[in-house]
Amino acid sequence: MNPRYQNIYRFPSVATRLRAGLALLSLAALPALAATPAELLAGYSAQAGAAASADRGQALFTSTHGKDWSCATCHGAQPTRTGKHAATAKAIGPLAPAVNPERFTDPAKVEKWFRRNCQDVAARECSAAEKADLMAWLLTLRP
Ligand code: HEC
Repeated sequence: MNPRYQNIYRFPSVATRLRAGLALLSLAALPALAATPAELLAGYSAQAGAAASADRGQALFTSTHGKDWSCATCHGAQPTRTGKHAATAKAIGPLAPAVNPERFTDPAKVEKWFRRNCQDVAARECSAAEKADLMAWLLTLRP
């Protein structure tokens, strides 16, 4: 066969192998997207370089920080119960993982809402130490 054609024929096989490789890679990455609340708490604590405090977490959650809203304004002071959005009045499922097993299992979602909600409540992002404290408290809550 003309060597030029051989090269052309080899192309798809390289592309196919590449695609298979990419598919495998993205499959391998999937489990890393899910997490348990305990893993997330451990991650924030490690980032903070200090042990989390549930008491500090509760204080942070239930008080205001220079603006109108606290976390509890939308999530309720008892986040084992359904909350209510302060602006839209929409129901918000309980934040406590013991009551709502979907909570703190998707790191991207957790980060997105920590960023947004800390901005709304404190006009800044929460630190890793604060996120660890908040989670430590939420994880103590039982139905
Ligand atoms: C203005 C209302 C409002 C305030 C105030 C608020 N939140 Fe939220 N929060 C929401 C909404 C809406 C969602 C997304 C809907 C949902 O997940 O049920 C959410 C979701 C979250 C999540 C996602 C958790 C998960 O894994 O699903 C976290 C964490 C969170 N909030 C923490 C906080 C903290 C901490 C504060 C205080 C600094 C706070 N929120 C203040 C409305 C609020």
